[in-house]
Amino acid sequence: MKAKILALLRQREDYVSGQELCERFGVSRTAVWKAIGQLKKEGYRIEAVQNRGYRLASRQQVYGQHELVSRMDTVWAGKPVYFYDELGSTNLQAKLDAENGAKEGTLIVADMQTAGRGRRGRTWSSPAGTNVYFTLILKPDFRVELASMVTLVMGLAVAEGIEKTCGLGARIKWPNDIVVNGKKVCGMLAEMSTERDFIHYVVMGVGINVGRQDFPEEIARTAACLEQECGCAVSRAELIVNVIKTFEGYYEIFQRDGSLTGLLGRYNEMLAGKDGEVRVLDPKGEYRGISRGINSTGELLVEREGGAVEAVYAGEVSVRGVYGYV
Ligand code: BTN
Repeated sequence: MKAKILALLRQREDYVSGQELCERFGVSRTAVWKAIGQLKKEGYRIEAVQNRGYRLASRQQVYGQHELVSRMDTVWAGKPVYFYDELGSTNLQAKLDAENGAKEGTLIVADMQTAGRGRRGRTWSSPAGTNVYFTLILKPDFRVELASMVTLVMGLAVAEGIEKTCGLGARIKWPNDIVVNGKKVCGMLAEMSTERDFIHYVVMGVGINVGRQDFPEEIARTAACLEQECGCAVSRAELIVNVIKTFEGYYEIFQRDGSLTGLLGRYNEMLAGKDGEVRVLDPKGEYRGISRGINSTGELLVEREGGAVEAVYAGEVSVRGVYGYV
């Protein structure tokens, strides 16, 4: 009920009477009063005025379970959502939950991670009070070959979610990162459990750098955070909801098509360095070419000198801009 009260106060932007809250949620005045008291304890500034009711002070940043639930206007993605002040890793928690029967769409969010995991066995710096760390549980019934494309669908959702939330021009650095002004603001880590050609689950982990912070030395030159790039405060809850809502829509198109066909145009618009020169770090030998965007199975098309086009599969290689990271 707390999330519902919060959603109504946020939507109304004016006083809502205690009577209306009681009638809407079918509870007593005492129950409403108690819920308001608990929300205040969680950090919400709620004004209570006799004969008028309750009003939420606007422009405040509360990050937690009720904030997320009250904003999550999706059908299945982000439902339910579980918020933790601290976790080892949201991916790890999501895997445990998925094995214990959590349903598709379950979202695990943490304010901080003590053992945040990056790709290629790296760690993911996850301090408290500043960034976004979440993992979405999916239980798809499509072929195993399609699973790697889920990261691309999420990449598109994160880039658009960032644009919508803070007005920054975010781009996808195929296949796993999101960049703003050429610097990495987000990394993604998908993990899955399969048996022969059956997918038990995919957990899609996303880490977004939001608040100003000191990055570890090895990434300081290539990493950035949203607040520094846009020069404004960013609501982490609003950002997560915008990403999850966008993902929900795109994932449905992807599932319907069984490929990225329906998302290709948009993805390639959002792709960093499209039609620019790239270096392909192939274990068989590095080469250069022009990035021509992805195809419907998520490979990056790289046009080599002489016009031949290679379809580069994400698992095998890394791609860099000729002048650096993007
Ligand atoms: C990368 O190396 O770029 C991928 C980073 C992925 C980090 C996110 S944060 C939320 C989720 N939980 C983890 O432990 N890792 C992912």
